[in-house]
Amino acid sequence: MRRLSLLLFSCLNAFVADASADVNRSSLQTYASKPRVFVLSDISNEPDDTESFVRFLLYSNQLQIEGMAAVTSTWLKDKVYPEQISDVVDAYAEVVANLNQHTSPSSPYPSAEYLHSIVKSGPAVYGMEGVGPGMNLSSGAELLLDRLRQPVDKPLWVLGWGGVNVLAETLYYIQHNFNATEAARLRAQLRVYTISDQDDSGLWIREQFPDIFYIASMHGWNQYGLAAWSAISGEEYYNFDVGGPDFTKVSAAWLKKNIQIGIYGKEYPDYKYFMEGDTPTFLYLIQNGLGVPEQPDYGSWGGRYSLVDLSKQVKYRQYSDAADRVVGQNNRTYTSNHAAIWRWRDAYQNDFAARMQWALPANESKANHHPVVVVNGHAELSPLVIASTPNATVSLDASGTYDPDRDSLSFRWFQYKEPGSTDWNVDNQIPALDFTVSTDGERAQVTLPAADEICDGKSSNDSGCWTLHLILEVTDHGAIPLTTYKRVLFETTNSTQSATESLVEDATVLDWKGYVEYDIDLDDYWVDDDWEEPILGRDCPCSGGHGGSGGHEHE
Ligand SMILES: *[C@@H]1O[C@H](CO)[C@@H](O)[C@H](O)[C@H]1NC(C)=O
Ligand SMILES: *[C@@H]1O[C@H](CO)[C@@H](O)[C@H](O)[C@H]1NC(C)=O
Ligand SMILES: *[C@@H]1O[C@H](CO)[C@@H](O)[C@H](O)[C@H]1NC(C)=O
Ligand SMILES: *[C@@H]1O[C@H](CO)[C@@H](O)[C@H](O)[C@H]1NC(C)=O
Ligand SMILES: *[C@@H]1O[C@H](CO)[C@@H](O)[C@H](O)[C@H]1NC(C)=O
Ligand SMILES: *[C@@H]1O[C@H](CO)[C@@H](O)[C@H](O)[C@H]1NC(C)=O
Ligand SMILES: *[C@@H]1O[C@H](CO)[C@@H](O)[C@H](O)[C@H]1NC(C)=O
Ligand SMILES: *[C@@H]1O[C@H](CO)[C@@H](O)[C@H](O)[C@H]1NC(C)=O
Repeated sequence: MRRLSLLLFSCLNAFVADASADVNRSSLQTYASKPRVFVLSDISNEPDDTESFVRFLLYSNQLQIEGMAAVTSTWLKDKVYPEQISDVVDAYAEVVANLNQHTSPSSPYPSAEYLHSIVKSGPAVYGMEGVGPGMNLSSGAELLLDRLRQPVDKPLWVLGWGGVNVLAETLYYIQHNFNATEAARLRAQLRVYTISDQDDSGLWIREQFPDIFYIASMHGWNQYGLAAWSAISGEEYYNFDVGGPDFTKVSAAWLKKNIQIGIYGKEYPDYKYFMEGDTPTFLYLIQNGLGVPEQPDYGSWGGRYSLVDLSKQVKYRQYSDAADRVVGQNNRTYTSNHAAIWRWRDAYQNDFAARMQWALPANESKANHHPVVVVNGHAELSPLVIASTPNATVSLDASGTYDPDRDSLSFRWFQYKEPGSTDWNVDNQIPALDFTVSTDGERAQVTLPAADEICDGKSSNDSGCWTLHLILEVTDHGAIPLTTYKRVLFETTNSTQSATESLVEDATVLDWKGYVEYDIDLDDYWVDDDWEEPILGRDCPCSGGHGGSGGHEHE
């Protein structure tokens, strides 16, 4: 701060400083808790992993990065390149002081030294060739095991940008070195989100350990155009949802002008096929008030995912692509897994561009900062949960919302119908919220539907009643506009008493521990009995052939 004011003072005549450069840092968004994250990347197979790392580190003030391991994949079968992760960290070291001018003092960016210390490698072999008896853990798996064993009451997110044999090594080790209770406890700490399957270890993990919370798009080998994540920027390459998404902000020209700038932006390579296929894994975790990581079905910048199997007995915890119904730029309505990502593109690209400005020296930065959204006094990034009864009227007041740069703000309220729905035609299933908004957008009055609609018995909640989602999107008018959201959850009941009373409480229902309450006996799920070849975990290494030297697509 001192350096900054001095600079502003002495250069006053030389340039017009952006007023937002001297923002009151104590008024910026704070993060009560940061998701713990461990990345597995097949960096170097093509430029886009490096691109994703450049974006990823710009979010390291709101994520707790626990490890970054260079791994193999079907595209890079026998080499790993940790030094390329280190290169991005070296560039970050040059700008971390600039970045720290734009974050709350309570949520600083980590030091480059720390980030260097957690760069590791997986085995330099393909998939399950690196997993089995007699093999030592790779440095990546050693760190992952260590992080998983920390006595921390918070889940660990493993993000797979390439193959996931580092996770398979770790799980194999756990299975053979801990008792069943302890092994299950460690697995319950895991949250996995992978960019489809890029080697044979993802399928092995899900088959052996169906209790692991695991988000992955499912489709035939290498059919990536079917996967939600490709919608980050891939519609021209894959030819999906033609006319819906706006390509402008993921074009090479836009990236050159807005991202490939300054010392740090220069580290961002030109894309080969399309921009940053791996980025949706952490867009999913970004703390902007929209996503709720424990609820893949709620939707976020990283897409929307629902359980592949709902049967209570098996409790297979894999999540895969779910569709959103979105109006595209040509005014046509698209219902697709892709739409669940491209609908947020303007916001997630602006967010990246604005953060790249933070990396510039103060006198060159068009700095902007996120609006801080407050609804009915609730200033957290977690949802505002309102217990609601049929026909009740609920007033929502967002007038406590402010912009740290004092920019003017735009408010948009909309019902996000898809979460919770199991019907492709969501309008047939989810009752509509009736709401009116004040002219300045700061207030909304919501009327809940009648009992036979909100409690039609079709919700998966035991109550038979729906939870309805209303989103408030607040966008500022800074040099590069930034958006923060508030998700309001109306948890409905069929109670007819006190129909107008509504109870505001914090989002305790979202406590992550609530979601590890399955009790699984692994012996019931050790599914190798019918296999011809013995498989890992009993007595043999996976020595069989490995499919998939497929085409020359990416990731
Ligand atoms: C900065 O913001 C904090 C938190 O909103 C506030 O308490 C403090 O008074 C502000 N400082 C100045 C100099 O405005
Ligand atoms: C595992 O590590 C030990 C001790 O460093 C070493 O002696 C052994 O050769 C290693 N095994 C393999 C398969 O690399
Ligand atoms: C399993 O391992 C954990 C941790 O090492 C230990 O606390 C627990 O007592 C063990 N349980 C059994 C049944 O051996
Ligand atoms: C889409 O609809 C809006 C509002 O009705 C209109 O202003 C716009 O021109 C339409 N765009 C196209 C491409 O039809
Ligand atoms: C900003 O300041 C740096 C020194 O900190 C200087 O090298 C650079 O030329 C300045 N840029 C502008 C646009 O004044
Ligand atoms: C709710 O409103 C509907 C009409 O919209 C009415 O039929 C119903 O009786 C009302 N329910 C309660 C509990 O007031
Ligand atoms: C809730 O109440 C309505 C109206 O009385 C009724 O039609 C519906 O079946 C009830 N739903 C549940 C889940 O009890
Ligand atoms: C089910 O509905 C009840 C009543 O609205 C609510 O308290 C509870 O949190 C809901 N459960 C889930 C898993 O959404």
